Amino acid sequence: MSTHRVLIIIGGGIAAYKAPELIRAFKKNGIGARCLLTAAAAQFVSPLSLASVSGDKVYENLFDLKDEVEMGHIQLSREADAILVAPATADLIGKMAMGVANDLASTTLLATDKPVFIAPAMNVRMWHHPATQRNLSQLKADGIQMIGPDEGDMACGEFGLGRMSDIEQIVTQVMDGLNIEASDVAAKYTPVDQPLKGQHVLMTAGPTHEPIDPVRYIANRSSGKQGYAIATAFAEAGATVSLISGPTNLPDPVGVNITRVETAKEMLSIVQQSLPADIAVMTAAVADWRVDTQANQKVKKDIGAGPPTLSLVENPDILAWLSKLEGDKRPDLVIGFAAETENVAEYASAKRARKGCDWMVANNVSPETGIMGGDNNTIDIFTSDDHETWPNMSKKDVAQKLVARISHYVSAKSNKEPNS
Ligand code: CTP
Repeated sequence: MSTHRVLIIIGGGIAAYKAPELIRAFKKNGIGARCLLTAAAAQFVSPLSLASVSGDKVYENLFDLKDEVEMGHIQLSREADAILVAPATADLIGKMAMGVANDLASTTLLATDKPVFIAPAMNVRMWHHPATQRNLSQLKADGIQMIGPDEGDMACGEFGLGRMSDIEQIVTQVMDGLNIEASDVAAKYTPVDQPLKGQHVLMTAGPTHEPIDPVRYIANRSSGKQGYAIATAFAEAGATVSLISGPTNLPDPVGVNITRVETAKEMLSIVQQSLPADIAVMTAAVADWRVDTQANQKVKKDIGAGPPTLSLVENPDILAWLSKLEGDKRPDLVIGFAAETENVAEYASAKRARKGCDWMVANNVSPETGIMGGDNNTIDIFTSDDHETWPNMSKKDVAQKLVARISHYVSAKSNKEPNS
């Protein structure tokens, strides 16, 4: 399974309508696609349809501060293996050639150090115009890789060079450029590197949202980053991963079967439907309580009567339920994640025993650690007879180390089993 991701910059031409097809074609080859739309492109293709096909947020505006905080243009490029501009309009090509950076698309293109591919699409006369040809020569000299355009009938009723290349052609050229094998994008991982091949891993991640009425809900600060990084690391190790995620701003991890839910009850129900599993890793910050009766209409402010009282009931404990399953129904290894703000070791080891899971990974989520929502983590692992403390590292490194430790445990156990 591949972990490649392409950032598609969609220019404002009629061929923009093919973007969903392009995303699907990348996905079919195991390549994740994230979209960035120019203002003109949004006239041809809806951000909503792109978001649903890509399973990711669609980026549009350089000055959307939230995006800049969460995901600056540098980050967009950093998280991609390549950038594909499709359709590449004469305008975008001109900006690239000149080094103009006045919107999110052009700024990202100027800030990237990743391979850039362009699939031009424009009217035949625009294509042949000396200005366009001059700009294209400059882009070629800059190392930009060209895909097409093709010759044929155009949307404007003319015939000639300027049609965007076929989707298959574009995907093939990007994959060739990145040295990705078409048949099995997993060429990167030889079987030796896939210690968890054949294992079904069931995971939860992110927060849950427990509705109060149609517009309000109870939530928590979990970003889902650590859980998604672990799901990705499992997929890289060859496992089949079912990830049940609460609401997050993160894209679907590549190579992972994700189901997005809102509430703890929905999360439990999908976990139950996803069994059996060999390994379960419950990283979700499941809300402990929900409102006992959700209002069907928005609760109105009753002037003079004071604030309403919320009556809460306890949510099901998914980890405890899973840990207490018997025989073949119980995954061989059940791991919980304890979020604590004090007495981490004491609370987490007691929580492991109380819930009945095999390992409890503890992290200190008090605000001063910056762990909740941040990119780093410091964890402790509690097993029935052992306790390890890991140094502070990125959530990605925690994920890879944890999956390596789990692989080691699984192979040691299966080597022992025939004799036991
Ligand atoms: N968990 C769960 N279902 C719940 C609550 C928690 O599956 N209703 C799981 C979490 O996914 C995590 C582990 O239990 O793997 C510990 O979660 P945490 O929030 O730390 O524990 P709580 O049971 O909520 O305990 P407390 O709030 O008292 O710390």
